[in-house]
Parts: sequence; structure tokens; C-alpha cells
Amino acid sequence: MEVVMLESPARVADVAAGIVARALRTLPEPTIGLATGSSPLATYQELIETHRRGDLSFSGATAVMLDEYVGLPADHPESYRMVIRRELVDHVDLPLDRLHSPEVHDDDIAAECARYDRLVTGLAVDVQLLGVGSDGHIGFNEPSSSLASRTRIKTLTEETRADNARFFDAGEDVPRHVVTQGLGTISDARHLVMIATGSSKAHPIAAAVEGPLSAMCPASILQLHPHVTVLVDEDAGADLQLADYYRQTYRHKPPWQPL
Ligand code: F6R
Repeated sequence: MEVVMLESPARVADVAAGIVARALRTLPEPTIGLATGSSPLATYQELIETHRRGDLSFSGATAVMLDEYVGLPADHPESYRMVIRRELVDHVDLPLDRLHSPEVHDDDIAAECARYDRLVTGLAVDVQLLGVGSDGHIGFNEPSSSLASRTRIKTLTEETRADNARFFDAGEDVPRHVVTQGLGTISDARHLVMIATGSSKAHPIAAAVEGPLSAMCPASILQLHPHVTVLVDEDAGADLQLADYYRQTYRHKPPWQPL
């Protein structure tokens, strides 16, 4: 795991966008895993601007989403498919039929979860962007999720519902259920890129990176993955015991060793 502490949220977005851009430029048919929420927004903005300058194309790419709320109409502005279109996909040249998300409007959600899991596994995600919840979730794998879990329906914790209430008119409008890629599914991606900024992420980042491997902190599954980049600003990295080591490591990173 490589932990990169950067001086500002803008630098975090810059480095994260650079990782995605490299995959888009160098891989013949790249598959990018997209997260929703606030954490990747500046990264998406950076990717959009690079695309508008004519320096980046998504035309050969496929995108898969981590999760989707259950119970919102498909055209609800806060459904994650609508969010990712608004924040990224509608501003770049990714063909819409190559944006994949859980289709939660089917009657048989269990069958849809199995289909989506097969789809994600078959596509083989090259770079998966991740945010972390205040309770340590990634995707919507809440604490106590199996570390080997696959795509399935989950119930959100009240903490997560409260965190996400800012996107809805009223707190009670936040759905209780989601379909999320499991921790095992997410771990199948070749490169996991965690983005975290701001002091509210200090605790979950420290727990994920330096705490025990535990279902109580689902993001600690990152410790088992062979290629993880954790991008944090100074606020999100404030509780890291080895902060000085991470700063030194990045400062002296050999040019031949990419992220
Ligand atoms: C959403 C997702 C979640 C968020 C997490 C952090 O697709 O996967 O794990 O990344 O809830 O949300 P923000 O970035 O809004 O703090």
C-alpha cells in the first residue's frame, strides 16, 4: 500500500486524475471503476477539463459503478447513475451504453446482484476509485460486512444515512437500502485508489491504513490488496502514525516507480 500525503485537496484530485488518465491513455480497453459522493468530485472535474482541452478521451473505455440506492426512481437526481452522469459522464466522450451500474428496478434484486457481480468481474476493473465513509465503509459495505462479500443488497447505517442527508431535501428521504459491489468484488480490481480529504476522514483513514484488518472497518480490506494508492490531504492524514514516513517516501519517490 502506498500512502501519499499531499498539501491540498486540489493536489489529491490532480494525482488521482493523473492515475485515471494514464490508464485511459495506455491501456487498449480500460475499465475504470467510479465512486460517487463528494470525495472524487474534484478528480472528475480535473478529468473533464483535461478532456475539454483535447488531451484525454474516454471513447475506448468502460466504466462500472460501485453502488446504487434502492427505492429511488431511475431518474431521481440523487440516484447514483444520475449523479455520475451529471458529475462526469455527460461531460466526456464515454459512450453511455458503456456506463454500467446496478439495475435496482428489477423485481428480482438477488438475480440482478449476481448478474452485476459477473459483469464487473468479467470486465476486470483496471483502476477503481474509492471514497471512505465516516464509519469506514467502501462502496456501501457497512461495518460487519464480510471481507469476502460479493455484490448484494445492504442496509445503510444511520450514520451513513445522516452523512448523506445533505444530498436530499429531508433526512428521511435517504434510502435505507443499496446494492453495492462487495469487498471481494472491489478487491478484484487491479489498482485501488482511495481519495480522502478533510478532517472528517482522518479517523476512517487511520483505521483503514494502520488499524487491524477487521470487518468493523471494511476499508481495512485495502491492506490485503497488492496495489493500493491512498491519496490524502494533510487533514485526512492527520491521525496517521507514520505520516512522516509517508511524506518522506513520496518526496524521495524514484522517477522510475509510478503510482
Ligand atoms: C459511493 C461510495 C461511498 C462513498 C463514501 C464517502 O459510491 O462508494 O463509499 O465513497 O460514502 O462519501 P463522500 O465522498 O461523500 O464522503
